[in-house]
This record gives sequence, structure tokens and C-alpha cells, in this order.
Amino acid sequence: MLPSVFVTLAAATLASAHTIITYPGWRGDNLITNETFPYGMQWMYPCGGMGVTTNRTYWPINGGAIALQPGWFQGHATAFLYMNMGFGTGGPDGGPINMSFPMVAPFQILGPSKNPYPGTVCLPQVSPPPNITINVGDNATIQVVELAVHGASLFSCVDITFVEPHDERLARVNETNCFNSTDIGFADLYTITTKAIGSTANATTSGAGAIADLRSSSSWASWLGYVPILVGGVWYLL
Ligand SMILES: *[C@@H]1O[C@H](CO)[C@@H](O)[C@H](O)[C@H]1NC(C)=O
Ligand SMILES: *[C@@H]1O[C@H](CO)[C@@H](O)[C@H](O)[C@H]1NC(C)=O
Ligand SMILES: *[C@@H]1O[C@H](CO)[C@@H](O)[C@H](O)[C@H]1NC(C)=O
Ligand SMILES: *[C@@H]1O[C@H](CO)[C@@H](O)[C@H](O)[C@H]1NC(C)=O
Ligand SMILES: *[C@@H]1O[C@H](CO)[C@@H](O)[C@H](O)[C@H]1NC(C)=O
Ligand SMILES: *[C@@H]1O[C@H](CO)[C@@H](O)[C@H](O)[C@H]1NC(C)=O
Ligand SMILES: *[C@@H]1O[C@H](CO)[C@@H](O)[C@H](O)[C@H]1NC(C)=O
Ligand SMILES: *[C@@H]1O[C@H](CO)[C@@H](O)[C@H](O)[C@H]1NC(C)=O
Repeated sequence: MLPSVFVTLAAATLASAHTIITYPGWRGDNLITNETFPYGMQWMYPCGGMGVTTNRTYWPINGGAIALQPGWFQGHATAFLYMNMGFGTGGPDGGPINMSFPMVAPFQILGPSKNPYPGTVCLPQVSPPPNITINVGDNATIQVVELAVHGASLFSCVDITFVEPHDERLARVNETNCFNSTDIGFADLYTITTKAIGSTANATTSGAGAIADLRSSSSWASWLGYVPILVGGVWYLL
């Protein structure tokens, strides 16, 4: 599986850069632009135009690694990454009915340049979404969303079956398939409330409007294990 992924990457970087899930795998090559997908297949919600697959890969029931080559759009050196899970087979593509269960707090990746670039990032231990009962043998789908600087998103998925953590069918995670390229940086995302709900402030002159308004609810923050901290009337997610 992995060698073909890296071969595909070479082609991908020539075209323009998109997301390839290198571990635990992906639904298949959606780095395609044709008459059906004139804007490029990977922009299609929820899984970049790829329907559910039957060649599922395995993933530990207590969570595991997710590695990807985020690639780069020309002109876009940074992106936000999201990793979600969906359950069931009731969706229009035969996969999950939605991909509404986040597994990590979104984070930013910092690319080396505005040109496409073939680096890898890997989170070695991503947990399944909290408060969902999962059994060995259950099927699910992992979705990686790469939010580009202009607000549109690229979608990639991999269909998985949960197995015990030491199942021999799991592709072992090591420095070959799970590593961070030195040229790709990471950044945490912070939200800064510039006007709280219910506040009476009607700002007229302030720099607040220039601050990215990446609002998160505190429930989102707390279940991710992030503690919102109030400093000088501003919420910080730490
Ligand atoms: C499933 O099959 C497709 C088509 O051959 C392939 O591109 C993809 O990598 C496979 N997925 C996994 C998880 O092995
Ligand atoms: C475009 O590519 C997708 C994926 O391979 C394929 O399903 C679709 O039929 C193609 N469309 C055309 C018009 O060739
Ligand atoms: C999981 O998916 C595989 C392959 O699509 C299928 O054969 C199997 O029946 C599914 N398992 C469950 C529990 O739905
Ligand atoms: C999303 O899918 C889950 C099943 O995995 C379902 O319980 C939930 O109601 C769905 N949410 C929405 C908003 O459809
Ligand atoms: C890492 O694990 C993969 C299988 O997942 C294997 O093919 C590869 O040889 C391993 N690399 C090292 C350095 O052990
Ligand atoms: C890659 O960097 C991220 C962010 O610092 C970190 O969470 C992750 O553990 C790193 N991955 C590896 C394989 O060290
Ligand atoms: C802000 O100003 C608008 C226009 O005068 C007014 O309709 C609105 O109620 C004000 N909002 C607050 C929170 O005071
Ligand atoms: C999980 O469910 C429990 C009980 O309903 C709730 O108290 C807790 O906040 C939930 N945890 C998360 C992370 O949603």
C-alpha cells in the first residue's frame, strides 16, 4: 500500500498539491480533474468524490496514527487541518451519513513556500471521537479536511475496521510511515472573542475587526481537552 502512495505523490506534486492520507491508507486516488469534476475531485464533500470502499484498512480501537502528505496549493503556504470520523453506511455514497465527529482540535500547518511541496505530517496517536461506543469489528471512516487559505476545503477519507491494538493486520507505525518533515511547521489555533454573545458593545473604532474570528464554543474546547482561559475579557484556548 505505502509504496504506491508515494509513487502517487510524485504525480500529485507535479499537478498541484492536495492531501494524501499515507497512514492508515486512503479510499483511492482522487487527485483528478476531468469533466465530471471540473474543479478537481478532492474538493467534493465528504470524501473528495470517492465513494465508500470495501478494501477497508485496519485501525486500533483505542486510536492510532494518521499520517498525510498535505501538499500545497500554489500560492497557499498554510492550511488548517481537521480529522473527523463518521459511522455507519447510511450515507448517499454508502459510507457514513455524516462526518460530524471530530477527533482532534483543528491545527494549522506551515508550509515551506507557496509552491507545492511533498512533506509529511503525522499524528501518532489520534483517539476515536469521545462518547461513541465502538466495538472491535465495527466499520468507520476517517476524514481529513484541508482548509485552504481561501476557505475552500479538500477532502480525503479512508474506510477502516476497528481491531485490537496489537492485531497483526495493523500496519506497524514507525519512522518510515509516521514522521514530520522538517520543512513543515505546525501552529495551534486560538480563538479570540471580539464580541461576546449578549454584549452591548457596538465597536466603532478598534482593531478587533482585523482579528480572525475563529469562534469555538467552550463545549467544543472542553471535550477536546483544551481549557478556555479568560484573560482580560478575552477567551484563549490553551
Ligand atoms: C483500495 O483500493 C484502491 C483502488 O485499488 C486503492 O487506491 C486504495 O489505496 C485501497 N485502499 C486501501 C486502504 O488499501
Ligand atoms: C472523472 O474521474 C472519475 C474518477 O476516476 C470518474 O469516476 C469519472 O467517470 C471521470 N469522468 C469522466 C467524464 O471521465
Ligand atoms: C464492514 O465492512 C466490510 C467491508 O465493506 C463488510 O464486509 C462488513 O460486513 C462490515 N462490517 C460491519 C460490522 O458492518
Ligand atoms: C450523524 O451521524 C450519526 C450516526 O453516525 C447520527 O447519530 C447523527 O444523528 C448524525 N447527525 C446529523 C446531524 O445528521
Ligand atoms: C515500518 O513499518 C512498515 C509496515 O508498516 C514496514 O514496511 C517498514 O519496513 C517499517 N520500517 C522500519 C524502518 O522498520
Ligand atoms: C508531529 O508534530 C505534531 C505537532 O507538534 C505532534 O503532535 C506530533 O506528535 C508529531 N509527530 C511525530 C511523529 O512526532
Ligand atoms: C448596534 O447598533 C445597531 C444600529 O444602531 C443596533 O440596531 C444594535 O442593536 C446595536 N447592538 C448592540 C449590541 O447594542
Ligand atoms: C460524555 O458523556 C458524558 C455523560 O453524558 C458527559 O458528561 C461528558 O461531558 C461527555 N464528554 C464529552 C467529551 O463529550
